[in-house]
Amino acid sequence: MVIDKEYYEMIFKRKSFRKFNDTLRLSNDELRDINEKINTLVALVDGIDIKYRIVKREETTCKRGEYCLLIYSEEKEKFLLNIGYMFEQLDLYLASKDIGVCWYGMGKTQESQYENLKFVIMMSIGKGEPNEFRRDYRKSKRKETEEIWSGISGFETIAEVVKYAPSACNTQPWRVNSEKDKLKIYRTTTIKSIMPKDKVPFYNSIDMGIFLYFLELALLHNQITFQRVLCEEEDKAELIPIAIYNLF
Ligand SMILES: Cc1cc2nc3c(=O)[nH]c(=O)nc-3n(C[C@H](O)[C@H](O)[C@H](O)COP(=O)(O)O)c2cc1C
Repeated sequence: MVIDKEYYEMIFKRKSFRKFNDTLRLSNDELRDINEKINTLVALVDGIDIKYRIVKREETTCKRGEYCLLIYSEEKEKFLLNIGYMFEQLDLYLASKDIGVCWYGMGKTQESQYENLKFVIMMSIGKGEPNEFRRDYRKSKRKETEEIWSGISGFETIAEVVKYAPSACNTQPWRVNSEKDKLKIYRTTTIKSIMPKDKVPFYNSIDMGIFLYFLELALLHNQITFQRVLCEEEDKAELIPIAIYNLF
């Protein structure tokens, strides 16, 4: 698997952009670069067809950013995890280019279908100034590490970093249980949020894909190689198993 190690540093710089400076514009070169980058994103699950469109924000219900990236996918098993994992790579990459991004679950588009694929989620995008990005990531609101990670011994540094992954309404549905050579990743279903209850599994599955990408970046940054096994998801459990990482 190819993971761009430079993205690790962007964990600390990225943030959800909500105020875009509307006097700034993305250049044609930047738009071309975004298109090229999207075509190199690494999938979590092979064989799921994905398409995207970059449209003017005004073509959607989104109120922020110059453009919206509309993401469409085949609805195969684990497609939401796959979308989160792939497009978080773009979020981190764009931070390195001073381009602000916000995952925008609330956003709607008229085109709920594109080339036979269903609309999944959008991201708002616009040029930012370097000083608009995050300066001290520890000031962003997150759960206490102990709340999301059990058996933490030996993984303190990694746990402290990966918890800064973005998630819908900051719900942070990830839970980790670590053993010496193994990480077990779960999605908790006991989320309290302003999101409509029936939408929570949808958005939190995207969040879990985002988290897996953060986790892999952090493992590799710490010279830990791994074998990832995605789990069969069971619907009813309080903790839904998502993935197991065997560490080397
Ligand atoms: C799947 C997903 C959907 C999101 N939807 C919205 C949204 O509709 N509106 C919004 O303002 N932020 C949205 N966000 C951004 C989160 O609120 C944000 O990631 C979280 O509060 C953590 O803040 P940070 O990204 O600045 O670290 C979304 C994030 C994710 C991952």
